[in-house]
Amino acid sequence: MRDEDENRLSDYELHHWTQSLLIAGYVTTASQIGTGTAVLLHRRDLVEQVKADPELVPSTVEELLRTQIMGSSIGTLRYALTDIELSDGSVIKEGTSVLLSEESANMDETVFDDPFTIDIHRKENHHMTFGAGIHYCVGAALARMELQVATETLLRRFPDIRLAVPARDLPRGLGGFMEGFTAIPVTW
Ligand code: HEM
Repeated sequence: MRDEDENRLSDYELHHWTQSLLIAGYVTTASQIGTGTAVLLHRRDLVEQVKADPELVPSTVEELLRTQIMGSSIGTLRYALTDIELSDGSVIKEGTSVLLSEESANMDETVFDDPFTIDIHRKENHHMTFGAGIHYCVGAALARMELQVATETLLRRFPDIRLAVPARDLPRGLGGFMEGFTAIPVTW
């Protein structure tokens, strides 16, 4: 009990962290596994390449993370504690609220060659899907491992898996914290 040992979490803290980890650690990865898989299955050419060479799984997962951000498209709100000079010389003034867009950063043509193309062979893939700086996702390594295991296992155990409906008919859950698909019917 917290009353007896100050190093233990209080009931409130325990509730808060359990809830945070369920959202930050489960919903995110579960949603990305679904969204990434749906995109992959829509691209049979990519599936065949990964099946022929499973060493492509990590770079495929990174490219799906770069292009399929499943969070709501609102972005992340930040507040400038001090003046921040950007690389183009413009300055974000202290006290300004800034809405960041990971999607836009991931499609920056000065960073990524041909950014709107899903290139599973992409070597330099410094995307922003896990954030950056002091709040960089603490679960990124775990998420990457889960996504790689899920992708590799799915294609190995169900080599003929394919979408059972046209990709454009996949039902989307919009407006929530995560905007993944609500169902991904498949056949194998
Ligand atoms: C595909 C899966 C995931 C994505 C896309 C993702 C994305 C992110 C992003 C963008 C942030 C930074 C938020 C900000 O800048 O305010 C973040 C933070 C965080 N993530 Fe993840 N995440 C994923 C999986 C996980 C997993 C598996 C865990 C834990 C097991 C986790 C735990 C956290 C925590 C605790 C933070 C807060 C870090 C801090 O504020 O210092 N995430 N995540």
